[in-house]
Order: sequence, then structure tokens, then C-alpha cells
Amino acid sequence: VGNVVSPLEDLRVDRSRLVDRLARLATIGPIAGDGSCRLALTDEDGAGRRLVSGWMRDLGLDVVVDPVGNVVGTRAGRQPGLAPVLCGSHIDTVATGGRFDGNLGVLAGLEVVETLNDAAATTRRPLAIAFFTDEEGARFAPDMLGSLVFVGGMTVAAARAVVGIDGSTVGAELDRIGWAGTGPNPFPAPAAYVELHIEQGPVLEHEGVDVGAVTGVQAISWTEVTISGQSNHAGTTPMALRHDAAVAAAEVAVFVRRLALDLGGQQVGTVGAVTLRPNLVNVVANTAALTVDLRNTDEAVLEEAERRLGAFLVALAEQEGVGIKWRSLARFGPVDFDPGVVALVEATARRLGHSVRRLPSGAGHDAQMLARVCPAGMVFVPSVAGISHNPAELTHDADLERGANVLLQTLVALTERDLAPTATAAARASS
Ligand code: GLV
Ligand code: MN
Ligand code: MN
Repeated sequence: VGNVVSPLEDLRVDRSRLVDRLARLATIGPIAGDGSCRLALTDEDGAGRRLVSGWMRDLGLDVVVDPVGNVVGTRAGRQPGLAPVLCGSHIDTVATGGRFDGNLGVLAGLEVVETLNDAAATTRRPLAIAFFTDEEGARFAPDMLGSLVFVGGMTVAAARAVVGIDGSTVGAELDRIGWAGTGPNPFPAPAAYVELHIEQGPVLEHEGVDVGAVTGVQAISWTEVTISGQSNHAGTTPMALRHDAAVAAAEVAVFVRRLALDLGGQQVGTVGAVTLRPNLVNVVANTAALTVDLRNTDEAVLEEAERRLGAFLVALAEQEGVGIKWRSLARFGPVDFDPGVVALVEATARRLGHSVRRLPSGAGHDAQMLARVCPAGMVFVPSVAGISHNPAELTHDADLERGANVLLQTLVALTERDLAPTATAAARASS
């Protein structure tokens, strides 16, 4: 029946094409255990960007790069003058990344476009795919830096001035790898934003649920702590006379664990990075630099955690006779996703025959920045054993396919809608 076009609701993605693109992107910046290291704005990130933007062009998308290297590929819609519905995520990774975190949301977007192209299908609104710069924040804090700039939450100049863990700046690295573009900033707000992502936690797998309709993202607070003590001989310096930066750093790590347990509920706390100087077996450390990551769905409790950390650092400096300085690397309040988008994700998953539950996100995501300017939401698929930020990160092919189909059908539904910015989105944009 040659020219019969299937209705948009019947379209489904091609699982093997999606899995193949994920595998090909994972070969860039390969690390042991089948993972990837593409820290933001490194040469590896540049190679990943060339691959994915090349795929965007191959699919006929109109590709625009903004001044901080956010990339948007747009597929035209039927009705002129309408804002696009946007999907996307990030292709930068932590140094110990798997192949799914971020990449899935971007490559599933490509798969959605290819599915529409194959069916010669048109949508009322344009459909666009973005990958945002430095979502991970592992090299340059804060996390979600690119999407924050995209929505006007940070200036391009401020972003370019950010100094990374290796002493380089965002601006110099953007210029060096050739990804400071000329696209608009802030970027024109899309009509809506939907991001497919792996859960990165154990809830969906544990409950045997196929799909998560994400209700929001918890608040996040990152602090860099620098401790200055005194180097001295490990054999000759009496214990009572030491000003040991390594011991003080260890005290902070233990305090953060106890703080999270004392506050209970949703509070989590992590000391993920510690650097000692001179870092030698027989020298008392004179300097420790460490990071504290505190998160909670409850903003008031997170503020209490920050207060207690500050008081502890003051007391610790006194007790160990060291200097302690600290500064905020990232601080974002909790975000609620648009109720209409959450309900649409849930209903779409059900219509496709998948089990679905609502859940909050423990990880930060670009969607939380887009929620400042348009109705936004997310689709989660299960992570095996809840493992992420680890090369062992795994989501089964069947779950990747389910998630991509929910993304496809959610996007298609949104492209046909009249979408005025919701009251909540408008309020968030101005706050
Ligand atoms: C960043 O994505 C984070 O949640 O750490
Ligand atoms: Mn991610
Ligand atoms: Mn991540």
C-alpha cells in the first residue's frame, strides 16, 4: 500500500540504530571496562561533538552552536513561526563515565528524528535536539553550566571565566577546541523540553517498573574546602605539635557522612575528591583540597546541612590549628517539573503498554535549567543495579528502546499542542 503514511502515534524507533550510535560514541575517549572519559571541552569532548553534530547534519537538521558550545539541531515544522519542542541532554562525561549518562537523551533524539524522516512524517511545530556543554561539572563547576547559560541564568563572560580542576578556563578551552559558536544567547525559549535519561539509581529496577515519569530534581550544594597546615617530618614531629591537613580532610569526610545520617530523610552527602600536598609517605600534609556534595529534596534541610558544615569547619580549624577556607562551586534549589509534561510522559508510557511510576531525580540534569523558561519534564529508564558515574553503568537494550519510544511519542504529542508558557514556568523564569 505504497503511499499510505502511518499515523504519528503508530511510529516506533529502531532499537539497533540507537544501540549502534551509543556504541560508536562510546569509542571516543575509551577507558577500561567499556566506559568513556570525555570531560567537558577536552579533545575527546571535541571528537564526540564532531561525531554527533555530523549525525545531526546527516539527518538534515539545521545545526546552531551558541557561544558556550551548546549545540541545537532543528527539524522544521509545518506551521511557520512556532517555537520548537526541544529534547536533548549532554555528551560530556565524568572521568569514569559509562555510555548512557547523557548520551542516551541526545542519541535517542537523533533516533526520533530518523524515525520521523523515514516515515516522511511532518510535525506542526519544529522538533529540535540539543546537547549542552559541561553538564557534569566534573571539570568545570557548576554542573549544568551550558544549559544554565542557554536559559540566561549565567552570562557567557562569567561562564568563560570559570577555572577548571586543571587550571584551564572554559573560555580558553572552548576556543582551543573550536566550539565557541555564534548562535544566540540566551537562546530563544523552546515551546517545551523533554529529556530522556537513565535513572542512575536503583528505584525502577528494584520495583520492576519500566519507565519513570520524573517529577523534579533535588537541591544541590557543592563546596570546595581548602585546608592549610604545616609540612613536617613524620618521624620527628610529636603528635601534639602537628597541624595536619590530611587529618583535617579525613575529619571532614567523616563529618559529612554523619551529617547526612543525622539529618536522615533524603539527605545525602559525599566527599568525592581529596588532594593532598605534598602527598608523600613521610611528610605531614601541608595542604588538602576537597569537595563536599550535599543534596536534599527539601531546601530548608539542605540549608541546615550547609550551616552545620560551616560551623564544623570553624571548630575543626581551631582544633587542628589549621587554616580552612571554603567557597561554593554550585548551588541550585529544588525544581518541580511541569505537571502537564509529567502527566503526558506518564500517560504516554501507559499507552505504549509500559509500567510507569512518578519519581524525583537524585542527579542534576539540563532539564532543571530548561524548566526555568518552558514546560519541562524527563523520562527515566532503569539502571542495572542503580550503578552510574562508573564504566559498569548499564541499561538493557529493551529499556533503551522503551524510553526512546516514550520520548518519541511525548515529543510528537507536544509538537501538535498549543503551548503557552505555563504560569509556573513563567514565574520560574523571572525568579
Ligand atoms: C551531575 O549531573 C550530577 O548530578 O552530579
Ligand atoms: Mn547526565
Ligand atoms: Mn552524570
